[in-house]
Order: sequence, then structure tokens, then C-alpha cells
Amino acid sequence: MRVLLTGTSGQVGGALLPLLNTSHVVLAPQRAELDLSRPETVAEALDGLVPDLIVNPAAYTAVDKAEDEAELALRVNAASPAAMAAWARKRNVPLIHFSTDYVFDGSGETPWREGDRCGPLSSYGRSKWEGERAIQASGAAHLILRTSWVYAAQGTNFLRTMTRLARERDELRVVADQFGAPTAAASIAEATSAIIDRRTNTTDLAEDFAAAEGLVHLANAGATSWHGFATAIVDGLKLRGQAVKAATIHAIATSEFPTKAIRPANSRLDTSRLRQAFGVSMPSWSQAMHRELDRLIRLG
Ligand SMILES: NC(=O)c1ccc[n+]([C@@H]2O[C@H](COP(=O)([O-])OP(=O)(O)OC[C@H]3O[C@@H](n4cnc5c(N)ncnc54)[C@H](OP(=O)(O)O)[C@@H]3O)[C@@H](O)[C@H]2O)c1
Repeated sequence: MRVLLTGTSGQVGGALLPLLNTSHVVLAPQRAELDLSRPETVAEALDGLVPDLIVNPAAYTAVDKAEDEAELALRVNAASPAAMAAWARKRNVPLIHFSTDYVFDGSGETPWREGDRCGPLSSYGRSKWEGERAIQASGAAHLILRTSWVYAAQGTNFLRTMTRLARERDELRVVADQFGAPTAAASIAEATSAIIDRRTNTTDLAEDFAAAEGLVHLANAGATSWHGFATAIVDGLKLRGQAVKAATIHAIATSEFPTKAIRPANSRLDTSRLRQAFGVSMPSWSQAMHRELDRLIRLG
């Protein structure tokens, strides 16, 4: 298949590229060729690329900045995915899109299921929810994969920030009242390529997507808090003989670490539909983290 993959400079797109490359012709346009902040140009760009399948991990992901750039976030996360979906419907091309736990309001303690009511607390969450709804309304064959707390050995993310801070500071203070599943970009990429490679043609893929109601939660198994994740990262660094200064990791409340955007307290995602519809089981967040820590240390 000719697969259009966006966001290859990002965590998920970057992890997907080598996996999809092994059995597909991957079209990986850079921003100059496909700029999602300009939704009015998307159809023409797609006309030039002619993919059989679109995979769209590109997004405006600066959660706090989105409070001040709501209009830009909406263009990248909602209007451009809507334009992609409109193009995809006309050409009968299935679309895989990524979304977030931040579409939920974070209430309760049980994992969110796909059909649960959304109620985003932030501008970023609203833009992603609007993108979901535009794709769902488009009539295109689609699969929206909602994930959470994404990190990788490269890029800007919690794993890398904690690793740096643990090497620099004696004490860390980390939020302990938000719960979710840290999810490695590599795990997301492996699951996504497994979903695609079950089928050899886009008609069967479209049927699979419809059977899953076009919406699936995809996150590493289990859950923890940011404090739990930070503690596991620091322990993992020590286990690997890395020099770590941080002797204490204080558990703090969200109220002690104010941020511009409000984050959901409960970000747990129920991933049973992923297993039932696609036969994909996710590794635990801890297993995935250890693999990514090995990678991070190899990269230096
Ligand atoms: N990161 C998380 O914690 C998290 C959590 C839940 C869900 N998600 C979702 O998972 C998906 C993948 O996230 P990620 O962590 O891989 O994101 P990321 O690392 O921030 O990468 C975003 C990608 O989108 C591209 N992009 C941004 N604006 C663009 C534009 N105007 N035109 C074209 N490309 C543009 C970026 O390109 P440049 O390099 O040029 O900026 C980059 O390649 C997204 O849908 C995100 O909403 C992420």
C-alpha cells in the first residue's frame, strides 16, 4: 500500500516510519509539502500524494501553549483532520488518526471506555475532540486511536525531562494525583502497524475499522501516577548504573504544580476493544519503559 504518514519528526510518527517502511511505500511529507496549520491546502497536497491509506499522528501537542493558541490548535488538530477525512471519503481511502485521553474530564477512578462521555478540560483537549468528531461525521472509513502520556527515548517528553532532572537535582517534586498509563511511542507504533498488517487491502481494513466502531483506546497496560512513573524512571536509571543525584522524589498535589492547562486526574484508558477487535495486547507501561530506558542510554 502507499501509506501517507504525517508527523515523522514526532514521537509516534518517528516510531511508525521504520515499521511501515518494511512492507509499504511510505509517503512522509514534511511541513512545506503538507502544512496542517493551513487546512485549506490539505486537499491539494493529498491530490499530489495519492495515498491508499492515511496515517495521521501529526498534531499540535503543546498542551499549555494551546491555551494561548487555541485557534492554531484547532486548525492543526481539527480543521486539517476534517479536510483529510473529506478527501479520504471522496477517494475511498481509509484514515487512521490519533487522539488523546485529554478528551475526558478526568472524573472517577475507572478506566475510560470508548463510548464514555467526553468533556475536555483544556484547549488542546477540545481541539482533539473536535478533530475526532469531524472525522466521525465525514463518512470516511476511519480508525481513531486514543492514547495517553506518550514518551520516547528521543524528543521532548517526561522520560527525558525526568532523566535530565534526576542527574541535575538532589530532590524532585512530582504530581501524584493524576493517574494514567505512560505509553511508549514504540508500543503505539507496533500496535498500529499490527492493525494495518493484518490485512493486505484497504477494503478489509475499512471493514475492520467499522467493526471497531472507528474508535479504539491504545495505551500501555496498567496505570500509575506521574510520581510513580518518575520513581520507576529513577530506579531504572540506577539499575543501569547511571549517575543519579536525586535521592528524594516528593509526591505533590496538582495544586502545588500549577500549569496553564488543566489536566484530567483520571486518564486511565480501557483497552479491551483493542484486544477484541484487533487481537492486539499491549505490554505493561513498566516493561515498555525499561525498553525505552535501554534505548535512551544507548543513544547517550
Ligand atoms: N505526546 C503525548 O503525550 C500525547 C498523549 C496523548 C495523545 N497524543 C496524540 O498522539 C499523537 C502523536 O503525538 P506525538 O507525541 O508523536 O506528537 P509530537 O512528538 O509532538 O509530534 C507532532 C508531530 O506533528 C507535526 N506537526 C505539528 N504541527 C504541524 C503542522 N502544522 N503541519 C504538519 N505537521 C505538524 C510535528 O512536526 P514538527 O516537528 O515540524 O513540529 C511533529 O512531527 C497526536 O495525535 C497527539 O495528539 C499525544
